[in-house]
Amino acid sequence: MFLWGTATAAYQIEGAVHEDGRGVSIWDTFAHEAGRTRDGHTGDVACDHYHRWREDVALMSGLGLNAYRFSIAWPRVQPAGSGAVNEKGLDFYDRLVDTLLAAGIQPVPTLFHWDLPQALQDRGGWMSRETAERFAEYAAVAARRLADRVPLWITLNEPFVHMAFGYAMGVHAPGQALMTDALPAAHHQLLGHGLAVRALRAAGARQVALTNNCTPVRAASADEADVKAADAYDALHNRLFNDPVLVGTYPDLSAYTAALDFLQDGDLETIAEPLDALGINYYHPTRIAAPTAEGLPFTDAGITGHPTTAFGWPVVPDGLRELLTGLRSRYGAALPPILITENGCSQDDVPTERGTVEDAERIAFLRGHIEAMRQAMAEGVDVRGYFVWSLLDNFEWAEGYHQRFGLVHVDFATQRRTPKASYAWLKEFLAGQNTDT
Ligand code: NOJ
Repeated sequence: MFLWGTATAAYQIEGAVHEDGRGVSIWDTFAHEAGRTRDGHTGDVACDHYHRWREDVALMSGLGLNAYRFSIAWPRVQPAGSGAVNEKGLDFYDRLVDTLLAAGIQPVPTLFHWDLPQALQDRGGWMSRETAERFAEYAAVAARRLADRVPLWITLNEPFVHMAFGYAMGVHAPGQALMTDALPAAHHQLLGHGLAVRALRAAGARQVALTNNCTPVRAASADEADVKAADAYDALHNRLFNDPVLVGTYPDLSAYTAALDFLQDGDLETIAEPLDALGINYYHPTRIAAPTAEGLPFTDAGITGHPTTAFGWPVVPDGLRELLTGLRSRYGAALPPILITENGCSQDDVPTERGTVEDAERIAFLRGHIEAMRQAMAEGVDVRGYFVWSLLDNFEWAEGYHQRFGLVHVDFATQRRTPKASYAWLKEFLAGQNTDT
């Protein structure tokens, strides 16, 4: 069955940060620090999904989806990041899973979508090797409770973005600006992923995947310096996270570091534990030129000549085909089946006087990207699912509530949900699908 779903993440939608024994996460800490997020927005309330989840499942049923990707908040399950388990936190996901199943929707949980328990950050977060071990323990706890009903698990969400924004540039939690010294945060996430794959299977999980943010990288020109810079960027953004997982090696990282001194014997075997699927989050391609200043070995040259989203991201549907066929050529038989675990766009969606939300650009975006995915499938790429980011407008990290990605509009003052025109479009589209395609 081809999975058609939407995706969300705990801190972006749940709210209820002090309820039922939830511990503090790095995003609670970060969002409450002055100047970290736009207008000081926090996820304290978000979409209040922790209380309104039944209504949100009903919205998914109304769409005719057969899958839902959400994330489990580690600080709800293990408030201190290790040791004591908070059963009430697990109860929330248990009820959600049962309700989804009753509605014919396959739950697809992600175990880490950036909300690390603060207690682990206080011991170094992902810069510390210990976090990888704690992550595998938490994965086992979650699977022991849910794997009887949850077939497919995703370990990490976008370890590249978490490393780059959280540890290298400091624009996401935990707010560290270590630049290239942040590489251990990539390695320890990948190690945590590999350890978690084993722990999940031991606890009864049938299928396991990892979700990477990938971008097709284009050189700004055919000049050797631009081509070299594009290759260095591709190594950091894509190959650093795909190569070790799929083929058990790191790419050449000499443009960033003299030695991989965080790498220990056996780590690469752990990281390369076979997967049942690779999750891909695709938003846009990247155009790279030679560096203009000391520091990083590349500059982002920007993509021009395409429409842009409210975020300013270029809308390039064919980039998805390019990405998928590129992965297939690079990894060949080592590439497992692919799930598009996120794809979507932010728009300035304002309800009309009649109360409708007319998001024609989002409809065009989704239609174009689904078509590009199908072209890649026709060219031989094995894609098994597509998840729209996102079901609801939600807390878009450093952008707060300013970027609306939902199929459903949320009025954050009242929590009123209004399905947008894209919701009606997707519903009609899905009604016309044979579930095998
Ligand atoms: C990817 C992330 O996984 C998600 O949390 C975020 O909201 C979307 N991209 C949009 O930026």
